[in-house]
Amino acid sequence: MMNTDELEKTKRKIAELKESLGAVIVAHNYQRPEVQDIADYVGDSLELSRICTSVSARTIVFCGVRFMAETAAILNPERTVLLTEGGAGCAMADMISANDIKKWRQRYPRATVVCYVNSPAEVKAESYICCTSANGVAVAASVPGEEILFVPDQNLGHYVSTKIEKGVILYPGYCYVHQRIRPQQVELAKSRHPKAEVLVHPECRPEVIALADAVLSTSQMLRYVKASPRREFIIGTEEGLLHGLRKQNPEKSFYLVTKNQVCADMKKTTLETVARTMERQENVVTVPEEIRLRAKQAVDRMLALK
Ligand code: 13P
Ligand code: SF4
Repeated sequence: MMNTDELEKTKRKIAELKESLGAVIVAHNYQRPEVQDIADYVGDSLELSRICTSVSARTIVFCGVRFMAETAAILNPERTVLLTEGGAGCAMADMISANDIKKWRQRYPRATVVCYVNSPAEVKAESYICCTSANGVAVAASVPGEEILFVPDQNLGHYVSTKIEKGVILYPGYCYVHQRIRPQQVELAKSRHPKAEVLVHPECRPEVIALADAVLSTSQMLRYVKASPRREFIIGTEEGLLHGLRKQNPEKSFYLVTKNQVCADMKKTTLETVARTMERQENVVTVPEEIRLRAKQAVDRMLALK
């Protein structure tokens, strides 16, 4: 833990490095509060992908996990993308490999592959289109054909399947942070806070989604809460989102469904790792050109949808 002096010193160092590198700092909504606070942009996966196509900075400093920085690198081959903690991965993205997707495509040759961005670049390269939690339904509805192979998140894929008329084949991946949330725990939270609205992420189990008032990406939750006249909310996603929720709505109350809604990889980035990464210009994320070009087609198709 840094004391106040060290904290201020590290923040000043980051500001100086940002200037000298001509960098922009982007952070996901699950990052630590102090990391979100030094970022130029904080957002969900879709917003961060869009921001990375519109900034003019030479260097993108990504406070998040590898698949997010890879998406930034796929979209910006001319810029340097630094991941603020080299070991920050995603357990869900690790559940699918290039070999897996090739096998599944052979098994379902008529299905159009829709790939959640929480996946390796090699898997995006084998997919027709990407989606995020914010646009999964719209993306799936837009693709050609009557059958979709949805990878790697079975829960988001299931949620999408309940909203569209096409057949959806589910790959068995999941996010352990959201999978941990059980319907009984949601019921308990509701009984403790009967006036609260229940907002859950589509990475949650179908039985949890069935109990929710709204199913939303992280930034959609932020917008929803701001616009809602209600004052209490039960939140079914990673605890990092509470920082933005509380900052933007100091008069409202937020309750996590359980105590352990924590993504270990999202928490690997600290102010020290941000400063160190920028100073040493390390953890440069690149994607081999042949994979990048094919993955970019899938990401571009998604970004072309309004
Ligand atoms: P969103 O912020 O896009 O909803 O993503 C959630 C997530 O699990 C990212 O790892
Ligand atoms: Fe991956 Fe889940 Fe962590 Fe997001 S919260 S990075 S999906 S493990």
